[in-house]
Amino acid sequence: MSVVTLTINDKLVSAQADKSLLRAIKDQGIEIPTLCHLEGLSERGGCRLCMVEMQGSPRLLASCVTPVQEGMVITTHSERLTNYRRMIVELLLAERNHICCGCVMNGNCELQSVAAKLGVDHVRYDYLCPDLPMDASHERYVLDHNRCILCSRCNRVCDEVEGAHTLDTAGRGIDSRVITGMNQPWGTSRSCTGCGKCVQVCPTGALFKKGATASEMVKQHDFLLWILDGRDKKIWRWS
Ligand code: FES
Repeated sequence: MSVVTLTINDKLVSAQADKSLLRAIKDQGIEIPTLCHLEGLSERGGCRLCMVEMQGSPRLLASCVTPVQEGMVITTHSERLTNYRRMIVELLLAERNHICCGCVMNGNCELQSVAAKLGVDHVRYDYLCPDLPMDASHERYVLDHNRCILCSRCNRVCDEVEGAHTLDTAGRGIDSRVITGMNQPWGTSRSCTGCGKCVQVCPTGALFKKGATASEMVKQHDFLLWILDGRDKKIWRWS
């Protein structure tokens, strides 16, 4: 595998040529906010929190969907980037009803944690307060559109890892919604295996286990790499 050399925050580093810029940044121990990225899933480049500056480019680059290239000069943290990241989080908070005190993920929510790290202590935009439903028709899980940030992790894990593709996203812009089956109540979808992978990868309280109350839900992501590694090594193959 060929290796490229690039500069990240004034440090010369090398990275495998097939890696993303985000991977190269993380390999240097640099913390960078992400929400749609999750190790083990394909990249979507949707949340734009992982944006970085590249010397010579007026545009910011989403590092999760940018391959490393020889000679890149990258800055991961600056006042400009912090301002953009803060604005993104504020827009997410204003778009739906993220009322932490009544949320099952309060204290364990990735959106809440990113907001805290970026110092988002108020929102400069008008809250839209949309009147969104919850789907509690599944016997074990609930989909609460109020907390959804449309990161699509649930869609991707259902498609790429479970192979069911029960979850998808329908609609455009502000009308985009995660849907189940053919846009039917989750509990009536015949493709859902009830595995719960979507619930575990969801960064907020949009997907949660029935019966969980405020601040009670903690999600595990480790299973994803464990499953993918096991599949690579074919440890579950029938002999
Ligand atoms: Fe790169 Fe979301 S983590 S755009």
